[in-house]
Amino acid sequence: MIKVKSITKLNDSQSRVVIINPKAFKKADSLTTAENTIVKDAIKAEKKQVFLNDGNQHTFIIFSESPTGWEKAELLRKAGAKVCAVLNENKRETVAILTDDAKAALAIAEGIALANYQFLKHKSDKKKLSNSLTEINIVNAKVPKKDINNLNIILQATYISRDLVNEPFSHLNSVQLAEEFKKLGKEAGFSVEVWNEAKIEAQKMGGLLAVNQGSKIPPTFSIMEYKPKNAVNKKPYVLVGKGVVYDTGGLSLKPTPNSMDYMKCDMGGSAVVAGTLYAVAKAELPIHVIGLVPSTDNWLGENSYAPGDVITLYSGTTVEVLNTDAEGRIILADALHYAKKLNPELVCDFATLTGAAVRAIGNYATAVLGTASDEVKQDIFDSSYAVFERLVEFPLWQEYADELKSEVADMTNLGKGEGGQISAAKFLQHFTDYPWMHFDIAGPAFNLAPDAYKPKGGTGVGVRLMFDFLSKKASK
Ligand code: BES
Ligand code: ZN
Ligand code: ZN
Repeated sequence: MIKVKSITKLNDSQSRVVIINPKAFKKADSLTTAENTIVKDAIKAEKKQVFLNDGNQHTFIIFSESPTGWEKAELLRKAGAKVCAVLNENKRETVAILTDDAKAALAIAEGIALANYQFLKHKSDKKKLSNSLTEINIVNAKVPKKDINNLNIILQATYISRDLVNEPFSHLNSVQLAEEFKKLGKEAGFSVEVWNEAKIEAQKMGGLLAVNQGSKIPPTFSIMEYKPKNAVNKKPYVLVGKGVVYDTGGLSLKPTPNSMDYMKCDMGGSAVVAGTLYAVAKAELPIHVIGLVPSTDNWLGENSYAPGDVITLYSGTTVEVLNTDAEGRIILADALHYAKKLNPELVCDFATLTGAAVRAIGNYATAVLGTASDEVKQDIFDSSYAVFERLVEFPLWQEYADELKSEVADMTNLGKGEGGQISAAKFLQHFTDYPWMHFDIAGPAFNLAPDAYKPKGGTGVGVRLMFDFLSKKASK
């Protein structure tokens, strides 16, 4: 795991990143006379960055004007990804960041560190394949210690979330996922209670049980809680995550190849929940947060639930299953119903829920829908720009709920293909009676190709967003 550290003086020949405001540039003391001339010429030529390599020392000059806004921060994160690639190609172990702008230093460090992620667990030759870079040094006494500490925590939480998503079903089933939550709880300091199949049956969580019918592995329902004594909130913030460890579609089988290949990522929502709780607990934020994860695979077998079946969910609502591939909303419904008894301040659910969300906005953003107040929505949007995890809000119109009408049960689990991310959300809304936000992360949770500081595979999307949102709530 890469570490970000504050140092007072850089080592000779250490690779360095120098962030310069081109508008205010006169001379940088950290650069030689010749280098200062190069910088001046580059500013005249309106270059965005310059890479100097004297064989021994690498110097990345990044031009950035008042990097305070979210656009500037994102430019720096992206520049960080490029710096990371060159450093690893050149087998560098450390890099120093020089700037008097604390926010800029943190943004570029974040970009470098997020880009440095690798998932090598199943590779035989880990040593040979491992990135050389292990440490980022910020050479600026003005960057608050707490900010560096929180950055390290959020980086670690994002790595954890990515690892969980990248781990295949062969190594991470519903029971193993709950075990991972327990390990994380122990390490970070939050409690984890796991309901096993008998408890889930006794509680009549009929949605989770129905989806699990075709599976060889029992379902789990994990309840994670971080409740510090100094919590600023009386009512908890509740995070719910879809924990489908593999989605074949069930009897409504997904076509292969393609659509099934990456369905190990269908527990991405649960990785957001666990990653966020980890970060909140590690940072000891004074905020009461509860995480709920219903987990199973969506397999097919002799006992599988079938299209046309009527099932009774935890809430007592009956559902006509018209497509067994729309399983996420069924298990989430049980968790959302459970959340009612927690008297929550706000419930946020995260789920790789619909292909429709991906068709609507690609993997550039998360589709979001919800009933929280305009004020809470604004805070969520502010956080989304701060961490550059963009959101697109869709409307919760009644017409989309009408699509779910059933002749034989209270509702069906299948709306129209068009706007399917909305009918899925309308299904979920039925099980809420509190301020609620739904995040459909089917697009951005998993990259089929690397994108700047988000590598191929699990991206960890949602963790940085929720940590930013909750830390602002905790400091109010
Ligand atoms: N897990 C999928 C959604 C998904 C699609 C996740 C692409 C990640 C990438 C979900 O369970 C699903 O199969 N949804 C169906 C719902 C439909 C049958 C109403 C879909 O979107 O096709
Ligand atoms: Zn599905
Ligand atoms: Zn699914």
